[in-house]
Amino acid sequence: MKNDQKQNQTTNLFSSPMHFYTLFTYFLLFSSGLVIGIAFSPYLKPLPFISNLNQLSNIPPPPPPLPNTSPTISNQTKSFERNFSFGSKENLKPPPNAMHDMEDKELMWRASMVPQIHQFPFKQRVPKIAFLFLARGDLPLAPLWEKFFEGHKGLYSIYVHSNPSFNGTVARDSVFYGRRVLSKKVEWGKFNMVEAERRLLANALLDFSNQRFVLLSESCIPLFNFSTIYSYLVGSTKTFVEAYDLPGPTGRGRYKHRLKPLITREQWLKGSQWFEMDRDLALEVISDQKYFLAFKRMCKSYSCYADEHYLPTFVSMRLGWRNSNKSLTWVDWSRGGHHPFRFNRQHVTIELLNKMRSGSHCEYNGERSNICFLFARKFLPSTLARLLLFAPKVMKFN
Ligand SMILES: *[C@@H]1O[C@H](CO)[C@@H](O)[C@H](O)[C@H]1NC(C)=O
Ligand SMILES: *[C@@H]1O[C@H](CO)[C@@H](O)[C@H](O)[C@H]1NC(C)=O
Ligand SMILES: *[C@@H]1O[C@H](CO)[C@@H](O)[C@H](O)[C@H]1NC(C)=O
Ligand SMILES: *[C@@H]1O[C@H](CO)[C@@H](O)[C@H](O)[C@H]1NC(C)=O
Ligand SMILES: *[C@@H]1O[C@H](CO)[C@@H](O)[C@H](O)[C@H]1NC(C)=O
Repeated sequence: MKNDQKQNQTTNLFSSPMHFYTLFTYFLLFSSGLVIGIAFSPYLKPLPFISNLNQLSNIPPPPPPLPNTSPTISNQTKSFERNFSFGSKENLKPPPNAMHDMEDKELMWRASMVPQIHQFPFKQRVPKIAFLFLARGDLPLAPLWEKFFEGHKGLYSIYVHSNPSFNGTVARDSVFYGRRVLSKKVEWGKFNMVEAERRLLANALLDFSNQRFVLLSESCIPLFNFSTIYSYLVGSTKTFVEAYDLPGPTGRGRYKHRLKPLITREQWLKGSQWFEMDRDLALEVISDQKYFLAFKRMCKSYSCYADEHYLPTFVSMRLGWRNSNKSLTWVDWSRGGHHPFRFNRQHVTIELLNKMRSGSHCEYNGERSNICFLFARKFLPSTLARLLLFAPKVMKFN
């Protein structure tokens, strides 16, 4: 019945002469628009064509959706679009300090964006490793790192977070030049350490070619050459965030009952802050609001040490099955105390380096391997000369 009625209406539309003329007028208007469009099409600007990955990295993400809500945001955005380099090697004309002036809130929001098309539009896709240096001030071992990075441009990006009061300079031809991110104060054992780690991760996520993310300090050294470390990290099926359950006052004893029921005592884990993660995990970490804010509110004192508990706990709850639960950074806690052992000049020997490089066994992609650590700490500035001497021989730097 109903179908019949509809059909009648449609037939009536065309049979009535008045409707027919209306439709005919619309048709004329439409076709003249088409003709004008075709005639002028040679004068229209073609869309920009992106031919390689670096150009992709240079495209700023879309501006915030509400341009007029806050003058601060739109000013920041304007300055961001003018100056932001995304860490691409061609376009590196950075201002001496930060690569952009975004505050944490805007930075996390931009960094959390994920492309919805999964195939890369280019033939070659070269993943990069982001080296995140969380430092107080200077990088005294920078000459060793310079040697490490030499000849591998395009396969890494560097980000440095240092105390805002640090005013040291970096040589123009250094790999660290212009790589300092907008930084805030960081205190040992405080929650602002976690915020600095997230800030570094978010900065590195803005560059879509960064696929693996390593956190390092000014006292860290590489234990292998770049090509070995690169293939180890890029080829790994697992992430490396140390996470374990430690009974006693320095582990479970730091649990805060106010975290219940969000985090139970059984879920509360400990681990070294020196992580290595992939893009998926890094995105989870910087997008987390729930656990991050709970820790910020309830684990801010010196007796809680959020930097040793937030990531192990959160990562295990969220993507624990993809985590190796161990760190790639060698450290000597065997002598007790609140800080790991610090190596000075005379401690640095070929034997020590070889012990760190291959003195133990662990699993890599389901197979037994004698490479368990790619980095080591803590090395005092006085170790530099001997490290530079041994590096070509022991670590096979080219
Ligand atoms: C932002 O720009 C407006 C004008 O566009 C100006 O009045 C205001 O002072 C600027 N704010 C900052 C923080 O620079
Ligand atoms: C961005 O570039 C302009 C010049 O084009 C400069 O005046 C401004 O200070 C730069 N902003 C940052 C954050 O470096
Ligand atoms: C750097 O900071 C120190 C104090 O922390 C100050 O004495 C020195 O003058 C500053 N140098 C420059 C170039 O601003
Ligand atoms: C790491 O711990 C998680 C639980 O948090 C577990 O699911 C995973 O299998 C562990 N990984 C390894 C390599 O043991
Ligand atoms: C890096 O070190 C490995 C051994 O660990 C060596 O086989 C390789 O040739 C080195 N790579 C370069 C580019 O020197």
